[in-house]
Amino acid sequence: MHRMAPLAVFMQTGQKRVERALDQYLPAETTLPQKLHQAMRYSTLNGGKRLRAILVYATGEALSIEPEQLDIAACAVELIHAYSLVHDDLPAMDDDQLRRGKPTCHIAFDEATALLTGDALQTLAFHLLCKPQTGLNAEHALKMIELLAHASGSYGMAGGQAVDLESTGKKLTLPELENMHIHKTGALIRASVKLAALSHPDLDPAIEKRLDHYAKCIGLAFQIQDDILDEESNTDTLGKTGGKDRANNKATYPSLLGLKGAKEKAVALHNEAINSLEPLDDKANLLRALSDFVIHRHH
Ligand code: IPE
Ligand code: IPE
Ligand code: MG
Ligand code: MG
Ligand code: MG
Repeated sequence: MHRMAPLAVFMQTGQKRVERALDQYLPAETTLPQKLHQAMRYSTLNGGKRLRAILVYATGEALSIEPEQLDIAACAVELIHAYSLVHDDLPAMDDDQLRRGKPTCHIAFDEATALLTGDALQTLAFHLLCKPQTGLNAEHALKMIELLAHASGSYGMAGGQAVDLESTGKKLTLPELENMHIHKTGALIRASVKLAALSHPDLDPAIEKRLDHYAKCIGLAFQIQDDILDEESNTDTLGKTGGKDRANNKATYPSLLGLKGAKEKAVALHNEAINSLEPLDDKANLLRALSDFVIHRHH
């Protein structure tokens, strides 16, 4: 039998793990109000790479934290991510009809339900972080809530999305584009690594800083690759409509630097991410492989 690479095995295990936990924490479809609960489950348990959850678990592996201790953090970041996608796809934003190979939430249900689905997924994320967790005291839990709130709100993802909308049809400078990507996508990826680091009882601040820089690099690289794939790949492979950024006149890395320039930037960020992990031992190899995955993925 063909042996799977360690990263592929780890990713599959992490996907299954977080999906089991999400399934458990999301309200049942039969619970009132049924339509909202159906839409929440539809928009969360619908595939997706689960990269943010996998980053939580891989950071845990690097720091010898058990996955059982990280399930809540992994669910919380995936819930915020799912909410961000539901709202991102709305007609008032990117106006997309396909997500993860299926009709977007507002197409499968309706726009009002999609708004409420995003709202409710977001609050569920914070509700989960309020649950008592083994090995974590209340002070730690509060720090995690603060971190995720900052990464999701106007100083993080939502702020980046606002800049994205304002920038449509405009030519941004490279620092402006970088700032937009770091916020709209990078903030949540960075939070995934940070949440796991916060689960460590007394992490060396120097290591925490290294991990944070790693996460900042791969967060930006992730959105650059998303922009490249939008330009280069196709709807079937992506599970979302290809070529939409160009059609919507979005500010992207390929639109500013060309595909070649965008790819070079992604590779440079990958190298910087790897360098940042230099003091960490072999237990950080999954993080190293994930950085490679981010810039070489096909969807
Ligand atoms: C898509 O994220 C939206 C961006 C932030 C670029 P992913 O590519 O991680 O989407 P899923 O979760 O795998 O569907
Ligand atoms: C979305 O960026 C970032 C989010 C915060 C959801 P995109 O608009 O490029 O994501 P896709 O391409 O629709 O997945
Ligand atoms: Mg968008
Ligand atoms: Mg979009
Ligand atoms: Mg995109």
